[in-house]
Amino acid sequence: MLTSTAESAILPDVYLLRRDFPILHQELNGRPLVYLDNAATTQKPVQVIKALQDYYEGYNANIHRGLHTLAEKATAEYEATRQTVKAFINANEAEEVIFTRGTTEGINLVAQTWGRTNIKAGDEIVVSGMEHHSNIVPWQMLAAEKGAKVIAAPITDSGELDYEAFLGLLNERTRVVSVMHVSNAMGTVNPAKAIIAAAHSVGAIALVDAAQSAAHLDIDVQDLDADFLAFSAHKTYGPTGIGVLYGKRALLDAMPPWQGGGEMIKEVSFAGSTWNELPYKFEAGTPNIADTVAFRAALEYINNIGKPVLAAMENKLLFHATEALSEIPGLRIIGTSPEKLSIVSFVIEGAHHQDIGIMLDNFGIAVRTGHHCAQPLMNRMCIAGTTRASFTFYNTLEEVDALATGLRKVIKMLL
Ligand code: ALA
Repeated sequence: MLTSTAESAILPDVYLLRRDFPILHQELNGRPLVYLDNAATTQKPVQVIKALQDYYEGYNANIHRGLHTLAEKATAEYEATRQTVKAFINANEAEEVIFTRGTTEGINLVAQTWGRTNIKAGDEIVVSGMEHHSNIVPWQMLAAEKGAKVIAAPITDSGELDYEAFLGLLNERTRVVSVMHVSNAMGTVNPAKAIIAAAHSVGAIALVDAAQSAAHLDIDVQDLDADFLAFSAHKTYGPTGIGVLYGKRALLDAMPPWQGGGEMIKEVSFAGSTWNELPYKFEAGTPNIADTVAFRAALEYINNIGKPVLAAMENKLLFHATEALSEIPGLRIIGTSPEKLSIVSFVIEGAHHQDIGIMLDNFGIAVRTGHHCAQPLMNRMCIAGTTRASFTFYNTLEEVDALATGLRKVIKMLL
């Protein structure tokens, strides 16, 4: 993936696309904003902002149980997003798409429902050593309750999953394999399809954390054969507070509900209650209607340009950034897999990542610093944290150059 082949492809004019993102056209600390924190959250196009405004100005109403026209319109728009997500991830049916608050909630839902029902003492849950805390801690909580074990597959010096070592961890005790598709801290792309097949070969289920991949890679849950897959709208140009948990129908049907309340029931009496069908069994309470509706605008935005085009634009940025930053004396990139997305995480000898981040901010450049919610990975790499520049299609080569120039200034000031 880290090649310059995309440079020759005919790509859309990034400056035209940037017009869709109002937030990018401002100054930060007296300098033009250079937003390079897209792995934390992406900016929102006007189409998404307008969808939110249209909802609140035109048809705000509670969904599913209302008979009036506004409620019917709101319900139709909400459910239309489910259909769009179904197509976006190639789910077999829309009922396999559960709306959540985001990736973290999706993983917790699986751990607390499927996990509490199926995990017992002595069982093993395999994750990778590069996971985000949200794909470690829910499993640790489950394991503590059940007397199970969470086991981390090792990571190589280049920030890749040690696949042979991972295979060596799988056995008849393995019940779950839960792995991120793309590392938020390094950009490494994990071989999700092979990991899932390996999990299935020992009878385990496989969950994919697609938080960092959904906006950038093709996601086909049927081709992957994923049992569960979770991602967040806010990393796919949509609003915060809304996300998706995909699950295979047979698994979702057999799982107990997670939260109790309205919407998730069929009938309630003091003798007992029965559960609604999918997907509503897992959507208790009034959902996040506005953000779900606007999420569709984000997915349509991606679909209209096309993921291969977006990927080519991002690959060009990654190639340029890797070259430019590699030339900076004392800078070491953490995560050098040939299979990586447009995230460049780095340390600079003698400079603390927080100081680097603050000084770049003074130049109008927004990056993220710290452990990126991946402390086990930082420990593995023997570092406290990194400075992370994460690019997306609306970034420009000039912005990459501004980062490189900014870093050279930072080094002069700090060292
Ligand atoms: N998980 C997000 C990140 O990597 C917040 O920055």
